[in-house]
Amino acid sequence: MARPAARFVCQQCGAVHPKWAGRCEDCGAWNSLVEEASAEAPPKGLGAARGRRIELVGLEGSEEEAPRRVTGIGEFDRVAGGGLVPGSALLVGGDPGIGKSTLLLQVAARLGATGSVLYISGEEAVEQVRMRARRLGVATAPVQLAAATSVRDIVASLDQGEVPALVVVDSIQTMYVDSLDSAPGTVAQVRSSAQELIRLAKRRGFALVLVGHVTKEGTIAGPRVLEHMVDTVLYFEGERGHQFRILRAVKNRFGPTDEIGVFEMTDRGLAEVLNPSALFLADRQGDVSGAAVFAGMEGTRPMLVEIQALVAPSAPGTPRRAVVGWDGGRLSMILAVLEARAGVAIGANDIYLNVAGGLRIQEPAADLAVAAALISASTGQALPAATVVFGEIGLSGEVRAVSQTEQRLKEAGKLGFERAMMPPQRGRRLARSAEVSSQEIGTVAELVALFEDKGAAAARRSQP
Ligand code: TYD
Ligand code: MG
Repeated sequence: MARPAARFVCQQCGAVHPKWAGRCEDCGAWNSLVEEASAEAPPKGLGAARGRRIELVGLEGSEEEAPRRVTGIGEFDRVAGGGLVPGSALLVGGDPGIGKSTLLLQVAARLGATGSVLYISGEEAVEQVRMRARRLGVATAPVQLAAATSVRDIVASLDQGEVPALVVVDSIQTMYVDSLDSAPGTVAQVRSSAQELIRLAKRRGFALVLVGHVTKEGTIAGPRVLEHMVDTVLYFEGERGHQFRILRAVKNRFGPTDEIGVFEMTDRGLAEVLNPSALFLADRQGDVSGAAVFAGMEGTRPMLVEIQALVAPSAPGTPRRAVVGWDGGRLSMILAVLEARAGVAIGANDIYLNVAGGLRIQEPAADLAVAAALISASTGQALPAATVVFGEIGLSGEVRAVSQTEQRLKEAGKLGFERAMMPPQRGRRLARSAEVSSQEIGTVAELVALFEDKGAAAARRSQP
């Protein structure tokens, strides 16, 4: 009998290769190929047996949508698209130690009040989970606990009896299916374990939450394949040194994907942050040069954050660029536009750009705030006091309109800002909030001129 062909599975992307190599040809990851016993027989085609005819139906139907399970933790519910959907699978990914287990124990405890909830830990012993529950002040919540890693046992236990509202499996990397030879945490195990658990959740109609660790490279350990299998993928992120954490939807079959939830890690677990702008602006130094407050939107909610820039003379050679919380490529574009369209040549300097507080901004609407911070840093002049900035910058130097202007202005007003540097509205009617006046900026050259005027005025003032 022929020896079963060896197969090498990339632990990053799940691609299967017939030969070992130092680098996965599919995703380019190094040292990620691991030999796995070939589980599946080679595909045989359909053969002679005839299948059943599938029934086709119209788009319109009268399927009753099962009500979502609302946990009552608003920041979590919103990111999940309005609560947990029965029969769906949700993956929560994040770095080890970021607070996934803490968050999900709190979610389980809250939901336990309205339905039966199971928390299956593959990483911690029952006593450890109980200790955490005591610390979180939820020790009396009606949550059923188990420490288990065998998917066969878990499926057998959940296959009968009352249907739970929610099952949390922490983490998918510790689960194993005993019919496979590979170790827990390998792509094959993670994939099969998830498949079995998701099938069970769909069949029995409970909401399944899987916890997944993220690798150094920032993808959910091993299986990007896992992201395709679940209905919803949430990432829990944050800087270890900062106390706040952000829950971000990156995929959601049942809701929007641009929502974020903001939490603060306290000594009694994660607390919801209902006013994130105040948190992100808490350490602001006031009106110093090189800082601009960006009025951003994260999904449906406005969020003010400070963008800081530092422009420093560069040593000979390639100037340094260090960007935290924003896209480095976008920074290069802004620098190029400033130089070509407004004559601001700062590209030869070292440039540091930081979104204060550790938030990651993806919106192009931050362009104008970044440009303002850069010009302010290079001229040494602060922006006018109590001013927020937003607007997208185009390649010809024009400032383009962005969505949800009203919400941005409203949030700025709420936090005591008085002025907004923003794109021209060109006749668009805004329901203005009374307290924020707008200063429309049409091009980057106009933005630069603002600093020049002020500089000239300051120079005049300082003359004897
Ligand atoms: P944890 O939920 O175990 O992280 P994960 O499951 O993502 O690996 O969180 C662990 C960290 O959270 C740990 O460093 C301690 C901290 N923590 C608090 O600060 N306060 C708390 O109330 C709890 C339970 C944990
Ligand atoms: Mg954990």
